[in-house]
Amino acid sequence: MKINFNSENFKDKGTIIFVCIKNKPMPKYLVDLNKKNSNYINKAMKLISFDYKENNQLDLILPQGSKADRIILVGTEVNKISDEPGLGKLGSYITTLLNKNKIKEANLVLDSSYLDPNEIALLLFGSSLNTYRFNKYFSDQKKTRVNYIEKINIYCKDQVKVKKAWQRFNSIKEGVFFTRDLVSEPSNNLTPELLAKEAIKLKKIGLKVEQLDEKKLKELKMGALLGVAQGSVNKPFVVTLEWRGNKSKNTTDFAFVGKGVTFDTGGISIKPSGGMEEMKYDMGGSAVVLGVMKALALRKTKANVTGIIGLVENMPSGTAQRPGDVVKSMSGQTIEVINTDAEGRLVLADILWYAQKKFKPTKIVDLATLTGAIIVSIGQEKAGMFSNNKEFSNEVTNLGIEVGEEVWNMPVDDSYEKDISSDIADMKNVGSGRGAGSTAGAIFLKRFIKDTIWMHLDIAGVTWAKSDRPMVPKGGSGFGVRLLDELVFKNFK
Ligand code: BES
Ligand code: MN
Ligand code: ZN
Repeated sequence: MKINFNSENFKDKGTIIFVCIKNKPMPKYLVDLNKKNSNYINKAMKLISFDYKENNQLDLILPQGSKADRIILVGTEVNKISDEPGLGKLGSYITTLLNKNKIKEANLVLDSSYLDPNEIALLLFGSSLNTYRFNKYFSDQKKTRVNYIEKINIYCKDQVKVKKAWQRFNSIKEGVFFTRDLVSEPSNNLTPELLAKEAIKLKKIGLKVEQLDEKKLKELKMGALLGVAQGSVNKPFVVTLEWRGNKSKNTTDFAFVGKGVTFDTGGISIKPSGGMEEMKYDMGGSAVVLGVMKALALRKTKANVTGIIGLVENMPSGTAQRPGDVVKSMSGQTIEVINTDAEGRLVLADILWYAQKKFKPTKIVDLATLTGAIIVSIGQEKAGMFSNNKEFSNEVTNLGIEVGEEVWNMPVDDSYEKDISSDIADMKNVGSGRGAGSTAGAIFLKRFIKDTIWMHLDIAGVTWAKSDRPMVPKGGSGFGVRLLDELVFKNFK
């Protein structure tokens, strides 16, 4: 969907959308239009008792003689659009409405006294997120959920400022769409090698991308990651992506680390067949890292940020690792692999270590579809958050509420350490009892964090939307891209 920015003076034409806010004067332009049409609009509003409830709407074909064809009024209340999630929902509702009515082009005339440039950009962000489709595999495009809306023309006072605010959100939207594309892609067409290729494509927007192949991973002694990969004919890769927005300093402000298991069968500890197809999105963490790196590069952040993704396929085979095997991680610590289905943490163990050693980031955030247990704990509304730093976890909690990608603080304190002690190695890869499964994963990761400020986001529940939500059509959600972009923006621009 294209978005055009224009000054206030709109000349009646086509379909016009107005946002009408309860207890606020009618948009000026709508008042004029009503006059020009001998009170036709007012009368219609009275007849349907237009009452400004969220998503209340009036769709009117204008009488002959009128230069415009159709107006759509969308009702809302001040408190419903006072924050980003509210503005996004309103924007999202507008594109849903346009699609439902098969409208290709619409003119959105906004009253700048109620929405500032940033708020307008957030509304448009919501509108755009709602138009995402993953239709590439339908041979008959007519059978897909068609996106009718192709173009929205915005008319508002501060068009230059609005356009500038939109540039940032358009970059984030590009990042989110990229993440969604990757998450939705089936695993036969997104092996570790193909996912690495997608990362390498980001070179063209100014990222420095480096790919480490199996030989290099062996040299680096990434035994934990390689153990997971050894059952698959598809070779593992690690990819690093660097953005240096501040060349005057030599430090890395953030490292974002992502689990990229392109398919998780469970390995020899094989998963039940029901629902196993969902494990195509077990590379969700790496897709968020790629999406946010794309957004940051497109909007040319002032921060120095590195993305690191570990790409493997977890398969059972004659060469697969066995339950009980002991592997040696790059850190030197040994791991008894009790369950080959707890593979994400094995991959992350080595790339977390590598990220710290090579890039020495001030803060490190890893994202992973790590445990089913996080869905049992907090469902699909929020991501599970585990951190070794209270200030950092508070900051991210608040940002999550602000942008509508919420995280929930979960424990990773030392009292859980004993849960993963092994009889024959430095640790085992699963907890001892049946409790606190997500924390067992997090406490394992913590063993590979030196003294860096660290956060682990368990995104197993939020990566895939099982049904449509306002800004998230069902499928890959892109959860995390908006949140991490805001984290970087708030600290460094
Ligand atoms: N990829 C899964 C976790 C998962 C589950 C992601 C559901 C998305 C939706 C992970 O590798 C896994 O299999 N975890 C095990 C851990 C267990 C063996 C300790 C799980 O959750 O059962
Ligand atoms: Mn698994
Ligand atoms: Zn997994």
